Amino acid sequence: MHVLVIGSGGREHAVTKSLAESSFVKKIFCAPSNAGITKLAETLKLDVKNHQLVIEACKQHKIDLVFIGPEDPLVDGLSDSLRNEGVFVFGPSREAAQLEGSKIFAKEFMSEAKVPTAKADIVSSVDETMGLAKKYSAPYILKADGLAAGKGVFICHDLTELQTAAENLFNKKILGDAGRRALLEQNLPGKEISFLVLTNGTEFQALPLAQDHKRLMDHNKGPNTGGMGTVAPMAIDADLYQKIIHQVVEPSIKNLKNRDYLFRGVLFIGLMIVNNQPYVLEYNVRFGDPETQVILPLIKNDISQLFLDLSHGNLQKVELHNKTAFCIVNAAEGYPDNSVKNTPIDLPADQKNNYILHAGTALNKQNQLISNGGRVLNIVAVAENYLDARAQAYELNSKITFNGRQFRNDIGEYT
Ligand code: AMP
Ligand code: GLY
Repeated sequence: MHVLVIGSGGREHAVTKSLAESSFVKKIFCAPSNAGITKLAETLKLDVKNHQLVIEACKQHKIDLVFIGPEDPLVDGLSDSLRNEGVFVFGPSREAAQLEGSKIFAKEFMSEAKVPTAKADIVSSVDETMGLAKKYSAPYILKADGLAAGKGVFICHDLTELQTAAENLFNKKILGDAGRRALLEQNLPGKEISFLVLTNGTEFQALPLAQDHKRLMDHNKGPNTGGMGTVAPMAIDADLYQKIIHQVVEPSIKNLKNRDYLFRGVLFIGLMIVNNQPYVLEYNVRFGDPETQVILPLIKNDISQLFLDLSHGNLQKVELHNKTAFCIVNAAEGYPDNSVKNTPIDLPADQKNNYILHAGTALNKQNQLISNGGRVLNIVAVAENYLDARAQAYELNSKITFNGRQFRNDIGEYT
């Protein structure tokens, strides 16, 4: 089969690698790709915002399956445009992608589904925000409604910070239309878990629990990031697991069905666990990054068939390896605010279970590997247990030359 992967990050490299290992896959195409993906897939120079161009490329290259990695093309309705032309897609419809595209839409969906979540009010001006702040206590959480590339959540330690965040959103419009409306939300202090399920809109299969590390620095210090490392599976107690399934996943899927959404892909549920009780912080309608890097190697099913079947609406039972996967992110100097690009990188050779996935990389004119984004590399190790996976990932990480790189030394230790 021929597969087209949309996206250019570590998640898409992980997907491309798994697809390349399948005997069913004859050729992979990727748009827009990165320096690691190009070794496994033919890069298509496509503007994925132009749906007609993507449709034509699918016809020209006889694509059997399109995998859409990032949220923007999903929220933009690329999967509907392709499906209308008979192309099979792993990814939800535009309508269902609103679960990630609008925090207000997601909050309404959660309330209808009766899943536990933080209390919130919809706000659209500074005065309204400051008026309603009396109902909440510090830290105040203000969330831009629309997509903001991970920059839409403001955690404000006092009313002055809240006032500044609201002015930035509503008056200075720093996030444009994405910040026209926002949620003022109750703070939930606890432990975060990423719970991902494959779903065809009526049934689901839970994927291994992954623990992300959102803060830039060790001991959960520094600014929030897209994710600095992951471990899977994450062990949680059986009682909590059952609560997540019954109180969160089942009602969420049931509501997808009630609303008759076309959903063939991954529902990523961002949870906060407070006193052993799960609360939904957010839905994403795609695989997580860097969660995917540790989830895919634990799946026994042939990924190409699993995804192809799902694109036809059929959900396979997911079988898992009894192993641990570990991922350390290397970010560029200056990330997350001002990532330094064009830094030369020298990598050790990959081995079967210890390897490096590319996220923000490119080749310069001299064909030398250079940084080309915020999160640049993902160092992955898959082993029989957590300690071996951890040791092997940090060992491989120590062999990388990449000036100014930032990574955490405590992935998996700090929960
Ligand atoms: P989100 O973009 O919704 O994932 O939010 C980014 C981060 O903000 C989350 O990963 C949490 O660490 C934090 N966060 C979001 N909502 C809340 C909340 N209600 N209480 C505490 N922390 C939150
Ligand atoms: N790692 C979090 C995300 O993919 O949104």
